[in-house]
Formats: sequence, C-alpha cells, structure tokens
Amino acid sequence: MDNIFSIKDLDLYYGNFQALKSISLDIDRNKVTALIGPSGCGKSTFLRCLNRMNDLIENCKIEGKIQYSQMDIQTKSFNVIELRTKVGMVFQKPNPFPMSIYDNVAYGPRCSGIKKKSELDVIVEKALKRAALYEEVSSRLKDNALGLSGGQQQRLCIARAIAMEPDVILMDEPTSALDPIATLKIEELINDLKRNYTIVIVTHNMQQAARISDKTAFFLMGELIEIDSTDKIFTQPKNKKTEDYITGRFG
Ligand SMILES: Nc1ncnc2c1ncn2[C@@H]1O[C@H](COP(=O)(O)OP(=O)(O)OP(=O)(O)O)[C@@H](O)[C@H]1O
Ligand SMILES: [Mg+2]
Repeated sequence: MDNIFSIKDLDLYYGNFQALKSISLDIDRNKVTALIGPSGCGKSTFLRCLNRMNDLIENCKIEGKIQYSQMDIQTKSFNVIELRTKVGMVFQKPNPFPMSIYDNVAYGPRCSGIKKKSELDVIVEKALKRAALYEEVSSRLKDNALGLSGGQQQRLCIARAIAMEPDVILMDEPTSALDPIATLKIEELINDLKRNYTIVIVTHNMQQAARISDKTAFFLMGELIEIDSTDKIFTQPKNKKTEDYITGRFG
C-alpha cells in the first residue's frame, strides 16, 4: 500500500459550525481520487485541508491528524510554503494572473529563486507540454493569458501548478465552467498526468468521476460515508446513502 496522504479523525469547525466530522481516509499515490457529494457536504473544505489552505480562513479550527508523506502537516512548525509547492491546487474558475502566458508559468519558479532565462524557458515549455497546451500557445507566449479561452486558461493553471514540480494536484471542480470539448481535454490530461502525480478532484459530475477516477469518496453533511474503488462505488456501493446519491434519488 502506498498512501501519499493519511487522514485520521479529522474534525473541522468554522466557528461553532462543524463542517467535517471525524474523517479518516487514505489517498493513494499516483492515482486519481474523486470527491463527490451534494452541495455543502464539505468537499472543498476537505480538499483545502490537504495543503492547509484553510489556514487563510479566520475562525477555522482543525482537529485530528493529516499526514503527507508520513509527515504531520498540522504542526505549527510545518513549512506551509513548501507544502503548497508539493501540493498544488487548481480552482473551479480558471484564475490566470493578468500577465503573459510565459510569466504565468514562470511565476512560481521565479518566486522560488530561479532567475536564469534559459532555465525558465525549459521549465515553461515542459510544463506547457505536460498540460497539453504548448502547441496552441507556442507562438504567443508573450501574449496576455487573459486572452486565452476558458479551457486554455484552465490548462494554463494546471501548467502553472506543474511548473513547481508538485507531487499532488488538488482540483476543485476544474471543468464546471467549461464546455464539453474543453472538459474532455482536461479529462484526457488528468488521465495522462496520473502517471506522475497524485490527483484529488472534486466533481459534481458523476460520469466524470466514473470516467477519470480510480477511487471515489462520497461525502454527506460533513461525513465520509464511503470510499472505495470507483467501480465499486458506482456498481455496488456498500452504503444505502451512497446508492441513493449515485442513482440520483437525492442531492
Ligand atoms: N469560510 C467559511 N466560513 C463558514 N462556513 C463555511 C466556510 N466555507 C464553507 N463553509 C460551510 O461549510 C460547509 C461545507 O462547505 P464546502 O464549501 O466545503 O462544501 P462543498 O461540498 O464544497 O459544496 P459545493 O459542492 O457547493 O462546492 C457548508 O455548510 C458551508 O456553508
Ligand atoms: Mg465546493
């Protein structure tokens, strides 16, 4: 067994409201894990725990243990900046910086001290190729990224994450703002990326979860109801609540 994350008895509170209740689960390395469940069940909250993005939210209190590569990431002394380079994130709405395509991808590496143009050129080209965007943009790397289509912008955001050489890429509904063709491109990309990265993806699209993930976790009202291989979850879930959800009886 090769877990990149191991979560034990995780409770999370926003003020007095408990958004995550005693969550325990492991995330397999170099696999795609999908998080599904109705709106408000805690998927994004859980995802943000994995790179401590909830630190940025006032009033948010976390109890329990989150291990990343056997390290306890909840300790005060843990290097959060480094964690976020190793555990990158892509959001629902593509959010390129208002600068050139090249500078978007070079941003992270520059921040971490790489200044030489020849070195940055290699990193940028490689990341754009990995994100299946290079061919479409190679002749206009100096153009503003905001001129790209939504699907291209999202692949640029994936390239931006990849440029930091992460182990894990967290994706929160990365295709919900995209048309079916752009969505398919991202799904193909995810399939390709899992050879080198661990991917945890939140999706409301059950077909998408079924198409791209190896494991699926079903959340309901802050609880993890069930996690299993995606096949099992969609064909013979153990829990009645999971079955009701995937067959569309609620949510
Ligand atoms: N910053 C916050 N402050 C207070 N409550 C919050 C905050 N963020 C989320 N919540 C609450 O925590 C619960 C879980 O929210 P979360 O965003 O994790 O759900 P979700 O499963 O991602 O939903 P969706 O599918 O709609 O994106 C919700 O009840 C939400 O209102
Ligand atoms: Mg969400």
